[in-house]
Amino acid sequence: MPNIIEYDTIGSTNREAKRLGLNGADHGTTIIASEQTEGRGRLGRSWFSPRGGLWMSVIVRFQLEQGDYVPRAIDPSISIAAGVAVAEALTDIFVELGRPDVNVRIGWPNDILIEGRKIAGVLVEGCVIENNSPFAVAGFGINLNNKACSLPGELRNAAISVKDIVNTEYPVRKACEKLAVFFIKTIDHIQQNGIDDVLDKCQARSAAIGQEVTVVPHGEPSYAAIPLDIDSKGRLIVRMISGETRLLDAEEVTISRNSNREGIK
Ligand code: BTN
Repeated sequence: MPNIIEYDTIGSTNREAKRLGLNGADHGTTIIASEQTEGRGRLGRSWFSPRGGLWMSVIVRFQLEQGDYVPRAIDPSISIAAGVAVAEALTDIFVELGRPDVNVRIGWPNDILIEGRKIAGVLVEGCVIENNSPFAVAGFGINLNNKACSLPGELRNAAISVKDIVNTEYPVRKACEKLAVFFIKTIDHIQQNGIDDVLDKCQARSAAIGQEVTVVPHGEPSYAAIPLDIDSKGRLIVRMISGETRLLDAEEVTISRNSNREGIK
């Protein structure tokens, strides 16, 4: 079991994980908080983190290959591993709660979706400091026992939680342990065997592949496209209406799905 450090209230578990990482905390060290007052999401957004949700961050230390002078702390494989680990941990939780039918999908780059609504998000941040070995922090925000109807404004209809689906609570600490173990196993598997098996799992659960989406590049006009696949560097391969294919990096674009949501069971 990884070393899990618990807080009641904290600004952001990602920020705390970075601080501990810079002080030498080990690979797998996990930080969890009951609530965050300054939770952060992708693209500089804030992340609403009330009690009942699972807010946690895991420190990832990569072994650098000999002759590899490029720090790999922000390797996209960490994002892919994180998305797969959350989807598998949530599936396991639904099985335990008697709902093996709940289909957990991975949006792109790593929103976790159920029936088109967001149940979890992942924020991976690299940390490279001179004279210090590089590491990354994978932050997980999961709507567990908090209800989507208590979220602010437009998030309310776009989100869903475990409790919304099963109408019962799941122990936050147990969910944290499960996810930390799944994630570290997935990262260690990639380090030893390469990314192919994990990419297959990600593709099999992808909510984006084959569905028409709108690509919103930062600072450029948006366009419609069909995602075809995810390549070994974690980039989404999309076909534009013109037939031209493009490779999209997670940090470069936001994708919104064009198809209608199905109803929630
Ligand atoms: C997203 O925008 O989808 C990513 C959200 C990530 C939120 C989690 S909650 C725990 C960790 N600490 C943070 O400040 N953010 C991440």
